[in-house]
Amino acid sequence: MAEFRLPPNSRITKGKVFKAPEGARNVRSFVVYRYDPDSGENPRLDTYEVDMDGCGPMVLDALIKIKNEVDSTLTFRRSCREGICGSCAMNIDGTNTLACTKATSDVSKDVKIYPLPHMPVVKDLVPDLTQFYAQYASIKPWLQSSTPPPPDHERLQTKEDQAKIDEPSACILCACCSTSCPSYWWNSDRYLGPAALLQAYRWIVDSRDDATGQRLDDLEDPFRLYRCHTIMNCTRTCPKGLNPAKAIAEVKKMLSDRQH
Ligand code: SF4
Ligand code: SF4
Ligand code: FES
Repeated sequence: MAEFRLPPNSRITKGKVFKAPEGARNVRSFVVYRYDPDSGENPRLDTYEVDMDGCGPMVLDALIKIKNEVDSTLTFRRSCREGICGSCAMNIDGTNTLACTKATSDVSKDVKIYPLPHMPVVKDLVPDLTQFYAQYASIKPWLQSSTPPPPDHERLQTKEDQAKIDEPSACILCACCSTSCPSYWWNSDRYLGPAALLQAYRWIVDSRDDATGQRLDDLEDPFRLYRCHTIMNCTRTCPKGLNPAKAIAEVKKMLSDRQH
C-alpha cells in the first residue's frame, strides 16, 4: 500500500520561545520558520515576542529588531527597505509579499513568517533563487536590435509605445508571483513562471526591439509558456500591483494570431 509521509527532514518541529522584555505592554508574537540545512536538524518554528512600542511598523522592522537585539542567527535578505529591490520577499500570514511594505498591524493574530514556498532553502527565510534568475536570463532581458543606434541621441519611442512597457518594467523580480503559482511549483524545471514570462512580454512589446519573432519562437513550447493555466495567483500576490497573468495571456494570443 502506498505510504504518504513527508520526508523526515521536512517535518517542522516546535522551536524556542523568546519572551518579551519585562514590562513590555504592546507585545506581538512573530512565529518564524528556522532551518539550517547544514545542521542536519529538522526545520522549526521559533516564536519571538516583540514590544511594538520600540519597533517600526513593518514586518521587516520587527525582523531587524529581532536580529539586532534578540537572536543574531536569524537569517533573511533585505536591502532597500522601500519596496524596490525585491530582496525581502517572503510568505507572511499565508501570502507572498515584501516584508518591508507589509505592516504588522495588517496581520490580526500571530505573525507567521515562512520563506517563499516551494523553493530550496539556503537558511531560514532565504530561498535559493538560482533557477529563478537562470530562467530570467533565458528570456534574454536586453534590447536586441539590428539597426545601429543613432550616434547623437537615444532610440526614441512614442509615448504610446513607452506606455506598453511602463508596467512590466516596474517588476522588481521579487519572485512572489512565480512562487505562488501551482504550475511553477510542479514544473519549475521546465515552466518559466510568471516573473520571467512578464519580462519576456516586456521585450516582445518594446517597439525598439527587433527580435520579436525569435522571442515568440522561444516561448512556443508546451512547458515554457503553456503550463500557465490562468490560475491568477501571480496577479493576486504581486506586491507591486502588476498583472503577469494578463501579459502571459497576451503572449499566447500573439502566438495564436501569427498562426492565422
Ligand atoms: S511581477 Fe510582481 S510579484 Fe512577480 S516578480 Fe515582478 S514584482 Fe514580483
Ligand atoms: S495565471 Fe499562470 S502564471 Fe499566474 S499563477 Fe496562474 S498558472 Fe501561474
Ligand atoms: S528590502 Fe527591498 S523590497 Fe523590501
